[in-house]
Amino acid sequence: MTDSVTPPAGTAPTVVHGPKREGTPALEARGLTKHFPVGRGKVVHAVEEISIALPEATVTAVVGESGSGKSTLARLLTGLIKPTSGELLLDGKPVGTSAKALRAYTSDVHLVLQDPFSSLNSAHSVGYHIERPLKLHSDVRGAELDAKVVELLDRVSLSPGAEFAAKYPHELSGGQRQRVAIARGLAVRPRVLLADEPVSMLDVSIRLGVLNLFDGLREDERLAILYVTHDIASARYLADTIVVMYAGQVVESGPAEQITDAPQHPYTQLLLSAAPDPARDQAPELRGSGSPPSLVNPPSGCRFHPRCPFAMAVCKEQAPPSLPVGTDQVAACWLHSPEHKAEADAVSAQI
Ligand SMILES: Nc1ncnc2c1ncn2[C@@H]1O[C@H](COP(=O)(O)OP(=O)(O)OP(=O)(O)O)[C@@H](O)[C@H]1O
Ligand code: SF4
Ligand SMILES: [Mg+2]
Repeated sequence: MTDSVTPPAGTAPTVVHGPKREGTPALEARGLTKHFPVGRGKVVHAVEEISIALPEATVTAVVGESGSGKSTLARLLTGLIKPTSGELLLDGKPVGTSAKALRAYTSDVHLVLQDPFSSLNSAHSVGYHIERPLKLHSDVRGAELDAKVVELLDRVSLSPGAEFAAKYPHELSGGQRQRVAIARGLAVRPRVLLADEPVSMLDVSIRLGVLNLFDGLREDERLAILYVTHDIASARYLADTIVVMYAGQVVESGPAEQITDAPQHPYTQLLLSAAPDPARDQAPELRGSGSPPSLVNPPSGCRFHPRCPFAMAVCKEQAPPSLPVGTDQVAACWLHSPEHKAEADAVSAQI
């Protein structure tokens, strides 16, 4: 989504990334920034000025290389870490800072972690893991509670639920554990599911099943889902919208198919060239090399310029704004600025 918030005079409009839908998004983040202090007055610029809106019944994928700030963004959205600046809105209302407000927020916004092996306690049965949040967040007890546990396990395709409730984590595969972790999250009826690399530790053969589970939950539970991944091909498979991060910033976003069929930012093109997509006829050309920069002293101007084969003089000096490059698609790249068109054409012609 590329809704523009009216800017103060003289500044560029803020671009809100995420699927474009009518109405108030379930979760919205405005201008989220996170700088981690690392001593001697230095900070890691992990996330810079990201605005994102997650409407219900949608999946937004966040993709990027290691260290690009994906997990930090997801953790900021959970409210578990405080932003250096920026704010969160749940159903359009700013999230309070009191312990009570944060407790309510954490039942609406649930984080699914990467590692299904460490997220469950081996001393307790599957049923215990699901019962706990139900007891904490509702008055259901006794037979009603047992029935609810079975229903939740069935909902994540751990059937028959009664059998799975009696099992212990060591009796389950990685995919089944991840399903238990998801069922535990669903127990508190969240509005938003934040899934940080939820399938990367699973066997390739069972990844698709878990992705299909998220796909079903989007519609059945009307969940707003954020799917963090290294894998742009799985993002295309599952997501409505893809948000591409590089060095703490969003460099491109838009509808998943558009982003993967017609990437407009040189970094997205690089990511795609490294991840062949069977749905595409020809792999895009590899345009750029090298590795991500230090986030303590990020490069001036466009942070991608040291790796970008199209870099122009302006790229080293000024950070590019997010510019429209297709329907609901934006790219933060000077190549798409009418002002720099002549130079951009000349650079492209040489490559
Ligand atoms: N608590 C912290 N203190 C200092 N730096 C941090 C902290 N947490 C994250 N960082 C730094 O912030 C940057 C972004 O990290 P983050 O974990 O968000 O990246 P990521 O995109 O999730 O990477 P990966 O794909 O490897 O999981 C990295 O440079 C990381 O070292
Ligand atoms: S702004 Fe310049 S350096 Fe950055 S991606 Fe675009 S062309 Fe490359
Ligand atoms: Mg991460």
